[in-house]
Amino acid sequence: MIIAIDGPAGAGKTTISSQVAERLGFVRLDTGSLYRAVALCALQAGYTTQTPGLDGLVGSLALGFGKDGVTLDGVSLGDRIRTPEMSQAASAFSAVPAVRQGLLELQRRIGRATNSVLDGRDIGTVVFPDAELKIFLTARPEERARRRHKEHLDAGRPSNLEDVLKDIEARDLADSSRAIAPLKQAEDAILVDSSDLTIEQTISTIVEHARELMRGD
Ligand code: DC
Repeated sequence: MIIAIDGPAGAGKTTISSQVAERLGFVRLDTGSLYRAVALCALQAGYTTQTPGLDGLVGSLALGFGKDGVTLDGVSLGDRIRTPEMSQAASAFSAVPAVRQGLLELQRRIGRATNSVLDGRDIGTVVFPDAELKIFLTARPEERARRRHKEHLDAGRPSNLEDVLKDIEARDLADSSRAIAPLKQAEDAILVDSSDLTIEQTISTIVEHARELMRGD
């Protein structure tokens, strides 16, 4: 069974997807980390989004998932993919068709290997249009910015709420206006707006939908 959880930056996909997967005994695949890994490797190799041959680079990367997240040649990339610079770079490289194409097969292969929760932007629309359960998880931009800001401060990173909000709005615009596989709610996705829900309420809403399906209701 595939559960697709799509939505904009800062909607809580990481926390919610991990918890939903844990409660159902599913594997969670954070597809954004694949785009971050590609951005990191491309920048290290001196590529820009315009460089010809990006498809060759993406095809040559041995990406996978380990217990600490995305791996390259079996080694975790850790927090190096989690900086604000890498968020912007991942968003920019993810608009390149060769990058999306290169990651499509990989996501399908890993996702169908077992019961999975995949979170991203185009899982329910493009990667797994036949996913058994599709959730579009969102929240108001100000609420998403407030949560991200708190996350930065809790992790001891400097943060400015206004800058975080600008970053979120810029990524929303870039991710939803790109020509290929833009961020949008699949027609058959269930909309979950977490602005006024607790984490627990959001998780149980999704888990309940999944259990209903598993029971065949
Ligand atoms: O979820 P995230 O913030 O880690 O994702 C980083 C970027 O990767 C995001 O701005 C857009 C892109 N992305 C995508 O285009 N498709 C996905 N399925 C997941 C992420």
